[in-house]
Amino acid sequence: MVICLTGGTMPERLAEMLLDLWTPLIILWITLPPCIYMAPMNQSQVLMSGSPLELNRLTEEQRILNRSKRGWVWNQMFVLEEFSGPEPILVGRLHTDLDPGSKKIKYILSGDGAGTIFQINDITGDIHAIKRLDREEKAEYTLTAQAVDWETNKPLEPPSEFIIKVQDINDNAPEFLNGPYHATVPEMSILGTSVTNVTATDADDPVYGNSAKLVYSILEGQPYFSIEPETAIIKTALPNMDREAKEEYLVVIQAKDMGGHSGGLSGTTTLTVTLTDVNDNPPKFAQSLYHFSVPEDVVLGTAIGRVKANDQDIGENAQSSYDIIDGDGTALFEITSDAQAQDGIIRLRKPLDFETKKSYTLKVEAANVHIDPRFSGRGPFKDTATVKIVVEDADEPPVFSSPTYLLEVHENAALNSVIGQVTARDPDITSSPIRFSIDRHTDLERQFNINADDGKITLATPLDRELSVWHNITIIATEIRNHSQISRVPVAIKVLDVNDNAPEFASEYEAFLCENGKPGQVIQTVSAMDKDDPKNGHYFLYSLLPEMVNNPNFTIKKNEDNSLSILAKHNGFNRQKQEVYLLPIIISDSGNPPLSSTSTLTIRVCGCSSDGVVQSCNVEAYVLPIGLSMGALIAILACIILLLVIVVLFVTLRRHKNEPLIIKDDEDVRENIIRYDDEGGGEEDTEAFDIATLQNPDGINGFLPPLLSLIFMVMHRKS
Ligand SMILES: *[C@@H]1O[C@H](CO)[C@@H](O)[C@H](O)[C@H]1NC(C)=O
Ligand SMILES: *[C@@H]1O[C@H](CO)[C@@H](O)[C@H](O)[C@H]1NC(C)=O
Repeated sequence: MVICLTGGTMPERLAEMLLDLWTPLIILWITLPPCIYMAPMNQSQVLMSGSPLELNRLTEEQRILNRSKRGWVWNQMFVLEEFSGPEPILVGRLHTDLDPGSKKIKYILSGDGAGTIFQINDITGDIHAIKRLDREEKAEYTLTAQAVDWETNKPLEPPSEFIIKVQDINDNAPEFLNGPYHATVPEMSILGTSVTNVTATDADDPVYGNSAKLVYSILEGQPYFSIEPETAIIKTALPNMDREAKEEYLVVIQAKDMGGHSGGLSGTTTLTVTLTDVNDNPPKFAQSLYHFSVPEDVVLGTAIGRVKANDQDIGENAQSSYDIIDGDGTALFEITSDAQAQDGIIRLRKPLDFETKKSYTLKVEAANVHIDPRFSGRGPFKDTATVKIVVEDADEPPVFSSPTYLLEVHENAALNSVIGQVTARDPDITSSPIRFSIDRHTDLERQFNINADDGKITLATPLDRELSVWHNITIIATEIRNHSQISRVPVAIKVLDVNDNAPEFASEYEAFLCENGKPGQVIQTVSAMDKDDPKNGHYFLYSLLPEMVNNPNFTIKKNEDNSLSILAKHNGFNRQKQEVYLLPIIISDSGNPPLSSTSTLTIRVCGCSSDGVVQSCNVEAYVLPIGLSMGALIAILACIILLLVIVVLFVTLRRHKNEPLIIKDDEDVRENIIRYDDEGGGEEDTEAFDIATLQNPDGINGFLPPLLSLIFMVMHRKS
């Protein structure tokens, strides 16, 4: 079969197109035979032919020769896109070399778009495109052709596949899909610095013809920027563009297809180029001289004023650090840089004193922080200015001669004696006299007084170091001319010790002496205490009373540690002989003059075990059973007599009444006694035997009642 390209029905427009499509199509038409013999392909007899006009001029030999010489894809047809003539366009012709005379042949077309886009004349084999084609939508169609017997529909040869390619025409303009564009380039860049590149796309066939061959140019934005026609790289076209002069540029870029030739389609986009800042400008003070004034009593750290150096650059390129580089106030003032406001803040570092110095001059410098070495040759990126600071007088409170005072006074200081003195002055030029007073909240007991004029502190009430060592008070100084100008100062008054306390026993001692103790035995060790607080500590002296020095019973011995031991001089102490000894001891301190006191130690004689453990010091328990003192015996005797008289009286009365004395319950003695009492109800003097008295051991006759009851009981039992 022969497939022929066709141009037979190609309209005039094609001729125009051909001018543009100078590439493969023309070559095809000139060098390739429009009809190609397909014999080598598996016995196929199908031939393809191009334009029938030219087909006629070509011989079979030429076709084969050309085919073998060149590797052209032979089994394809071409059809122009976007063609819309009054008649369907002839794409090509199918032709079989089987003898058409012997059999009637019918051509059948199948595949992409067969019947819908491409129609075949089944007798002639002409293929027409019946629809307008768009290469950008579908660039090629694969179809199958076959010759069959007209009557039997039997295939006369195997089917042949071929392709119809849609031929591109320049029907798409370049487009900048990502535009509009923004780019930045540092100011002061050298000529030819690359800014950015842009890309346009063209939907036309990039491999066929020039429909998609783009060339870029700048329509607007010269002479500042240039573009490379092929790569679309945009570069600076002027050196040293200054951001401070013009920051933003609008560049209009055009892309044109057909290699930029006339007749091509074009598209444009805009590129906004912003120059970025570089540090090409130094800071410059707005003023060369600044004046500030400040009251002398301003708080340290207070901002006194701001100085600002302007910088045409922006961001960190405009940042300056401020310094005080000279002047007579460098020690008193400091300057800090405020990065936000890009200015310098002058602050007070040390207290001012109007009375000492009334004005200061500072030389301040602002220096760019981020220097660009490229421009450092342009001069110093810093500037200086002069700052004059005037100190204003302020009414200041009095100033004490010392921030604190420490006074010392002996505790025996006389009333109204001067303890110490505070002084204060008004620092102002109009120096006001000062009045002193004591802050009474700090001297609630009004221990002290102060002379309002000269600040002398005197003692108002007696001191006692042993009560309070420190009296920490506050003195107030007030300016007479302005009572609101007040200062306070702490005064610590320390009370110094005077030996005004005599030593005494450190505690109440109770000494026990064993009856079986040996001579020289230590009965007790005592220590002394003294409320005073001498510088070198206490040293006590102990002694016995003069009349006791030759005491045969006891002696004393001072110990190393300031304590005293009392020793027994002999053995054989007996509590029956003497139960308690009193030993007065004189203790004196080492003060000047020394003070002494006499403390008496009570020594009790006790019964002890053989190893010296006290067992009994009770004299009463021991004495009673053995014998009573004379007085006690007489008392008991008197009582017995008295009782006997009462009993006799009682018995007489009973007998008189003929009532026997019956005691039924021998065990309840108390009951009996009460009843006995009750029986004597007729008597007036029952009070003398009040049972309460008998039961109360603390009664006036504390000793007698138990004894009485004892006698009563004995008598009862006998009767
Ligand atoms: C008083 O002041 C002195 C000295 O500053 C200090 O040592 C002492 O503790 C203070 N006493 C009182 C009760 O505040
Ligand atoms: C010494 O002890 C005896 C009896 O033990 C006593 O009579 C005498 O008064 C005592 N002397 C002194 C000074 O206590």
